[in-house]
Amino acid sequence: MTIREMQDEIIRLKKEKDICILVHAYIGHDVWEVADFVGDSYGLSKQAAAAPQKNVLMCGVRFMAETCKILSPEKRVYLSHTDAGCPMAEQISKETIVEYKKAHPNTTIVAYINTTAELKTVCDVCVTSSSALKIVNNIENKDILFIPDQNLGGWISEQCPDKNIELMQGGCPTHALISKVNVERLKARHPEALLLVHPECRKEVADRADYIGSTTGIMSFAKNSDAREFIIGTENSIVQHLQMECPDKRFYELAKECVCRNMKLTTLADVYNMVKYNECEEIIIDEETRLAAKKPLDKMIELGG
Ligand code: 13P
Ligand code: SF4
Repeated sequence: MTIREMQDEIIRLKKEKDICILVHAYIGHDVWEVADFVGDSYGLSKQAAAAPQKNVLMCGVRFMAETCKILSPEKRVYLSHTDAGCPMAEQISKETIVEYKKAHPNTTIVAYINTTAELKTVCDVCVTSSSALKIVNNIENKDILFIPDQNLGGWISEQCPDKNIELMQGGCPTHALISKVNVERLKARHPEALLLVHPECRKEVADRADYIGSTTGIMSFAKNSDAREFIIGTENSIVQHLQMECPDKRFYELAKECVCRNMKLTTLADVYNMVKYNECEEIIIDEETRLAAKKPLDKMIELGG
């Protein structure tokens, strides 16, 4: 079977079995081509609720599939690869936040969407990289604890000087691999190129960027820009997607090692096995956890617009 034949069979079966395939921007291009929707975490969570199909296959990592199930309990939600977790989502425990809230009862707990369903149950509002600035600005309270990504939280804090934003130790181990040395090296090699980075990058990298934004933000900036060359500071699959979508522009990886091994677990064969043999983990969340975790997600959509 060729890749094209496998894709055609997936497209035929997903329609027959009423399956919506949602794909995160870090997944490979062969999977993108069978998707109903491709996007960043915010787009995926909105799309999860809007999709008319009864079944959803989330090609991404576990917190994305959990978010989908929390927002759409009537749907059967499947995760593309059972080992695909996000290490950042598990860096802070629910107990840590419960203790923090006892000591700081008037602080608003803002959780990056890259958190477990369990941790979301004790948070006030979720944010994604594309919605965080707008949402934090829309929170009335000045006192905020931002978890778990201290790079994203620090970047938001710089742009919201009227807020007291406290951070906890946490972040993405993949984006942490990029340093200012990579920036200096790539800028020397490609002096005309614009540097586009994800806010999960370290401050020393973000400070040198021409644009900072979510995966979707980076892609639309590059597509709409008049510039011809771009250095991309996020998971390297974005470089390949952009090169395919904009063949007349040039895209360079900021760091060869910026590869999320969890996102890389999902292959086209996993998608094929799901739609053909139903071989896939279904996400199950108990109703008490789901309802509590839904509150910060509903707040995110209310404040994020
Ligand atoms: P986006 O919201 O930009 O898709 O980011 C999700 C993520 O996990 C980035 O590492
Ligand atoms: Fe998690 Fe980082 Fe992978 Fe995104 S790139 S899923 S934050 S480990």
